[in-house]
Amino acid sequence: MKKSKILIFGGGGFIGRNLAGTLADRGDLVYSFDKAIPEKRDRRIEYIAGDFFDDDHLDDALEGKDAVIHAVSTVNPGNSNKRYMQGYGRDFVQSVKLCEKVLCNRQRMLFLSSGGTVYGNQEAQPITEECFPLPINHYGNVKLCIENVIRTFNTQLHTKMRIARISNPYGPGQDYTKGVGFVDAALKRAMEGEPIEIWGDGENIRDYVYIEDVCAMLVSLLEYKGDEEVFNISSGEGMSQKMVLEAIRELGLTTEIRYLDKRSVDLPRTVLDNRKIRGIYDGRIRSFKEGLEEYYRYLQKGI
Ligand SMILES: NC(=O)c1ccc[n+]([C@@H]2O[C@H](COP(=O)([O-])OP(=O)(O)OC[C@H]3O[C@@H](n4cnc5c(N)ncnc54)[C@H](O)[C@@H]3O)[C@@H](O)[C@H]2O)c1
Repeated sequence: MKKSKILIFGGGGFIGRNLAGTLADRGDLVYSFDKAIPEKRDRRIEYIAGDFFDDDHLDDALEGKDAVIHAVSTVNPGNSNKRYMQGYGRDFVQSVKLCEKVLCNRQRMLFLSSGGTVYGNQEAQPITEECFPLPINHYGNVKLCIENVIRTFNTQLHTKMRIARISNPYGPGQDYTKGVGFVDAALKRAMEGEPIEIWGDGENIRDYVYIEDVCAMLVSLLEYKGDEEVFNISSGEGMSQKMVLEAIRELGLTTEIRYLDKRSVDLPRTVLDNRKIRGIYDGRIRSFKEGLEEYYRYLQKGI
């Protein structure tokens, strides 16, 4: 069988790097595009150094590829209300250009959108893909704008570009100091004997999902041939920050907590309904406890 050539924009990031490994494990030919070639490389992966915002770099990288993963974002939920013009002026515009190129080349594409920030504050939980999105910040709205461009292109042209609304991934390769990742922050800080900061009362509920499970679900979505466009990628399990801390203590670690003022960008509850992706993904999704233990064992080897 012919191997697929899959290009990942943002291949050096947390999700991109893990996904590159999962695709390489399957025997796909993986091309990881990022700002620089990493020092630690996987021999099975071809690395491309380039600028996502340079059209010529995009064209060169896209040439001859069967499928594309769009995993670049230069804003995050914490900074997007300050840097919103960067989100709209750069991330959004360049994503539109990427869609156009992908469609001209008749390639498949998977766009990594966000669950919680796109849906915003929803009464009905777990949140299904049919909910009316109410983005809580500009990061979520930039994602939604890109999603809408994808949907609009999909009404006119040959192929379906897919949208993955990912909940809260955690696991190897995450770096909470970039501004996202409570589980990563709490576990690493507990291991280092450092205090853990929580904005609010620790009762905010999130749908944490282990990165390996995220990648396995994304691979099923990449292979999916049906008409659906948007899929939640989640565990479907709601955990408050206090529950996460309790699970960390069950690993035998002590946790020192510092409660800070609540932030307006944080939602009280986000749990994503994953029945739709489960309809095309028949693998297992780890429980939070299992994923945390696995990540802890991984960090113990490296720290
Ligand atoms: N991590 C999460 O919690 C999460 C949740 C939902 C959705 N997402 C989305 O998934 C995608 C990947 O997330 P992540 O956590 O891996 O992010 P990340 O920041 O770890 O990775 C993004 C990568 O994009 C690269 N990049 C940025 N600007 C670039 C440029 N001009 N040219 C080339 N490469 C560039 C960065 O160097 C980085 O390696 C993002 O779009 C993010 O919004 C992430």
